Amino acid sequence: MKGLVCKVCGYISLDGKTDCCPVCCQEKPFEEKEDAYKTADTVVTKGESEKKHIPAIVVIDKCGLIPNEGCIDAHVKVGEILHPMTPEHSITGITFYLDKKFIGYMQLTPGVNPAAAIHLKAGAKGKLQVIENCNLHGNWLNEVEIG
Ligand SMILES: [Fe+2]
Repeated sequence: MKGLVCKVCGYISLDGKTDCCPVCCQEKPFEEKEDAYKTADTVVTKGESEKKHIPAIVVIDKCGLIPNEGCIDAHVKVGEILHPMTPEHSITGITFYLDKKFIGYMQLTPGVNPAAAIHLKAGAKGKLQVIENCNLHGNWLNEVEIG
C-alpha cells in the first residue's frame, strides 16, 4: 500500500497528517512510498511469511487494570505463528491507531516477545489499526472494529 513514511523513524501516517511525526517529533519528515506497508485484507493466501507478520489482535472488552474508569484492551501478537526475535531478525515496534489517528507506539527489542497491548478508554469506538515493523520484511497492518 502507498503511504506517508517518516524518514527519521519509519512511522507511517495513516490519517494524512504530515506536520510533525508523533513518534520522533521531527517536523515535516514524511515522504510518500509506494510500498509503505502490506495489509492483511490484501493477502489472498496466507503462507508462513504472512502468518509470521500479520499482527494478530485480540480485544478484551473489560480489562480490570483501571477498575473505576474501565478500559478496553487490545492485545497484539506478531503473528499467528510467532515471529522470531533475534538480533538479526526481529519486530522493532508496534504502532496503534484509532480510526487512523495515532494513539500509541511500543518499541521492541530482541529481548522481549513480539507483542504489545494498549488500554483504550471505556466506551472507545471505531476501527483499531495496528502496524508492526519487521527489520527484514517491512511493515504489516491489520485492523479490528472496537465497541
Ligand atoms: Fe520478519
